[in-house]
Amino acid sequence: MYNKEITKKLQEETSLFLQNKEAIIVGEEELQRLRDVLRFHEYRYYILNEPLLADIEFDLLYKLLEKTENENPSWITADSPTKRVAKGLTKSFPSVQHLVPMLSLENSYDSNDLLDFDRRVKELTEKEIIEYCVEPKFDGASISIIYENDLLIRGATRGDGVEGDEITTNIKKIKSIPLSAKFSQYGLQQVEIRGEVLINKKNFKEYNEQLIAQGLEPLANPRNAAAGSLRIKNPTEVGKRNLEAFVYHISHYTSLPNKKITEDLHQHATTLNLLWDLGFRSPQLEKKVLIGIEAVINYCNEFEIKRDNLPYEIDGVVIKLNEVSLQEKIGMTSHHPRWAMAYKFKARQATSKLETIEFQIGRTGAITPIAKITPTALGGVTISSISLFNEEVIKEKKLKIGDAILIERAGDVIPYIVKPLIELRTGIEKEIEFPKNCPTCNTKLFKEEGEAAWRCINIDCSAQLIAHIIHFSSKDAMDIRGLGDSIVQKFFKLNLLKNIVGIYELDFGKLENTDGFGKKSIENLKVAIQNSKTQPLHRLIFALGIRFVGETTAKTMSNSVAHLLDFRNFSLDDLQQLEDIGPKVAGSIFQFFNNQKNIELLQRLENLGLQLKNEKKNFVGDFVHQSFLFTGTLSKLKRTEAEEIVENNGGKIASSISSKLNFLVVGADARSKLEKAKKINSIKIITEEEFLKLFGKH
Ligand code: IVH
Repeated sequence: MYNKEITKKLQEETSLFLQNKEAIIVGEEELQRLRDVLRFHEYRYYILNEPLLADIEFDLLYKLLEKTENENPSWITADSPTKRVAKGLTKSFPSVQHLVPMLSLENSYDSNDLLDFDRRVKELTEKEIIEYCVEPKFDGASISIIYENDLLIRGATRGDGVEGDEITTNIKKIKSIPLSAKFSQYGLQQVEIRGEVLINKKNFKEYNEQLIAQGLEPLANPRNAAAGSLRIKNPTEVGKRNLEAFVYHISHYTSLPNKKITEDLHQHATTLNLLWDLGFRSPQLEKKVLIGIEAVINYCNEFEIKRDNLPYEIDGVVIKLNEVSLQEKIGMTSHHPRWAMAYKFKARQATSKLETIEFQIGRTGAITPIAKITPTALGGVTISSISLFNEEVIKEKKLKIGDAILIERAGDVIPYIVKPLIELRTGIEKEIEFPKNCPTCNTKLFKEEGEAAWRCINIDCSAQLIAHIIHFSSKDAMDIRGLGDSIVQKFFKLNLLKNIVGIYELDFGKLENTDGFGKKSIENLKVAIQNSKTQPLHRLIFALGIRFVGETTAKTMSNSVAHLLDFRNFSLDDLQQLEDIGPKVAGSIFQFFNNQKNIELLQRLENLGLQLKNEKKNFVGDFVHQSFLFTGTLSKLKRTEAEEIVENNGGKIASSISSKLNFLVVGADARSKLEKAKKINSIKIITEEEFLKLFGKH
């Protein structure tokens, strides 16, 4: 898309625009150059994952574009990067007809299926040697997008294959889909493209963590998350989901008058290259042209091993006849093309039995049904409990106790129950009765309007108090080792620990007489409690268990004040000014800091030596604002521990290699990131040992 020369030119223009201190763009032509610069940086970031610009610099240029367009509306173009922004909500998604029906793929599961496929292809094409193009089978939601005269004009979901929902506004939110592409240079006027929308594993995990922090049901898997995101009526919300798209097929095209259509469309592999050159994310690097089915079978086996190392989910490999004239010759059934085959990887599903349901009481009093299942091996771990989140989920899935169930676990995603196997019911399965009263304190349960969870509203309910302490001392909160689930329960029952303040007032003398508690474990616990006092402020905020405040919000909050009690002076409006804090979360934080009991609790914690000041606010030292990236496997530290060291010293964690990166820390098996970093002189490449030394931690 951008060769060396053009890249250099665009970088020079970027610098010029960044130096434009007066923020004035004098004419239409200059504005177009600014748009080209912004599109170039979107491409570096979203397609290549190799940004050349800091986020803040991109924002500066974007604002300059926005401001100039507002002042000169006649200069706006339909493919301006600002056109990804939509105002208001989408009312409905009208049905639209695909230009060519969106077919499915035939599935294969082993080498025999592939040999059969190859035999059929040979027969139908009357060829002895077949060239195949193989590529990942992306596990997301399929889309169809249409470009006319180089402009993106329509995006749609698959629907029933003939008609789908028109979701153009949401499609425009996906930054790896260009708003315009120079199809005209290849003789094309109208083009219909097929592709898959995904959420990568990291973004999916983060999104689910936010949902859980807000007391909401997490999404089952990245596929459902992508499909659901495409049908959200608030485009801004769609933008927040960080969707990505791969395109893999041109299903229809028309030519421009008097222009010759490019020969690139004669083969599947060159079509993928063409799409890549036009600025799309096609599997151009992942695809492989192979001759003969044996090579294809090897590729499928190799790819299955690589599956977990990819940043996004794939559920197989797609094998396509490379020659388009041969594809046309052998055609399709009403269900699938005869020239393609999906090779499906081993499913990450298993069957088990729902033995019983336990009802767990969380720190906010919410009752979570937990399915206890016959222990079952799946994806390398044994699963015996699966959360069902709330009563609605049980009803929706029509589960009964004793049911044979299908369970699934995708990658490192939490396991979930797909469905009961109703055909295997024997008649002795029992309905699940959701409790009316708290299983611990017997208080009548209560459900707020618009919420899915039943709650115990007795603030003295011992199960809630215990859950609160367990959360406070958990690994991602104050990380007090030795104060886990069963110990907290035990201390609570023995009256040694009633609330979180009690952790810092523990009577260690009394512990000595508690069975199972030796001198050594008491000493370890003492040290762990003492160490927790100096945990950074964001951990304490998360540990307090304020409703809707997860780790991300806790970090935002911690970065906004010099002392935690400063939040007493924040209005609801002030809170909503903070990044990603909406009215619901703001309301909860406001309530927390306007409750005298909570203020007294925080003051007591401070008197006991806990860290309520934001030390980050006054960072001094060599690493303030320096960025670090870790690659490969670290041997002494966990990734999260290493990142925390950086953050605690005022540094930042970068997400990819760019000229803005200061340090790359390399562990074992570091490869592509290391290679990239070597090409940029300003990046300091250091080992894990050197990293520890830098921070005085060896
Ligand atoms: S080709 C006529 N290629 O898998 C073209 N499909 O299970 C047919 N899919 O509906 C599609 N990755 O949504 C093709 N590399 C890939 C794919 C792919 C994922 C999806 C697609 C299709 C479904 C069938």
